[in-house]
Amino acid sequence: MTNQSKHIMKPEPKILVTGANGQIGRVLTEELRIKYGTNAVLATDITKLSVTVEPFEFLDILNVQRLREIIIDHGINQIYHLAAILSANGEWNPLKTWNINLNGLLSVLDLAREFNMQKVFFPSTIAVFGTTTPRINTAQDVPLLPSTVYGISKATGELWCNYYFKRYGLDVRSLRYPGIIGWQSLPAGGTTDYAVEIFHAALKDKQYTCFLKEDTRLPMMYMDDAIKATIDLMEVPSEHISIRYSYNLAAMSFTPAEIAAEIQNHIPEFSISYDPDFRQDIAASWSETIDDSVARKDWNWAPNYDLASMTKDMLDHLK
Ligand code: SER
Repeated sequence: MTNQSKHIMKPEPKILVTGANGQIGRVLTEELRIKYGTNAVLATDITKLSVTVEPFEFLDILNVQRLREIIIDHGINQIYHLAAILSANGEWNPLKTWNINLNGLLSVLDLAREFNMQKVFFPSTIAVFGTTTPRINTAQDVPLLPSTVYGISKATGELWCNYYFKRYGLDVRSLRYPGIIGWQSLPAGGTTDYAVEIFHAALKDKQYTCFLKEDTRLPMMYMDDAIKATIDLMEVPSEHISIRYSYNLAAMSFTPAEIAAEIQNHIPEFSISYDPDFRQDIAASWSETIDDSVARKDWNWAPNYDLASMTKDMLDHLK
């Protein structure tokens, strides 16, 4: 086969991003547009922001008919399915969270199968881990007993991704993101949100009251690394991918006290206090550190940012 005929056979990516106005969605959509062209990436979300860039369509992920029409109208052949309710917010309405997180995914997977899509990306999370999971250097395959409905929906979602790959050959790929920290966007309703809020508060008020205890260690990652991991995973030839439920992914782990000390290296007058709420229990059920050696081996994953370099870059951008 010549290169030219190969090219003709595989259509150019036409990507649908759900949850494109979320914390990761905003940055990932922009990056995908840089890579594939603005018109190759359709942003969808249930809300529109002042910063939303066209092409954009409103989409409630529970509206399967609308999802189908969008796929047909725009000739979609890849989906990055980011729409979900996060760990803390999910606890306010468990059944709604299950419905959006799990049934939203099932619609995406089944339409992707029906329309013979090239690839699907599903974000999973450290929230799939629970009190039966070893918390230090958590391995790829461990007992999962998630405590939040968000974690339950993501752990179940992982199984469905694996099922659609094995049963239908759907090329679905997934990452268990740690807490994601970026200057470009704000998270909403997660347990790791403090690690973004703290930077905004440090610059604005020189003070932050943390909703987790000072010694609560959690896995975290800079946005640049999360985007790099996502794009690297989606680019690698399918045969390199040995995990079709979801890859462990790690960059750094720190406590509120440690990130506060790092910020104090730049803003000496910054102070932190602690007023733990229900999110402390959620955090305490998650891993402290993650073993991501399978991702490193399968597709050469390696992060670029640690706590010090991330903190400097965050403050440089937010100033
Ligand atoms: N950042 C997410 C949360 O805190 C974890 O995936 O809910």
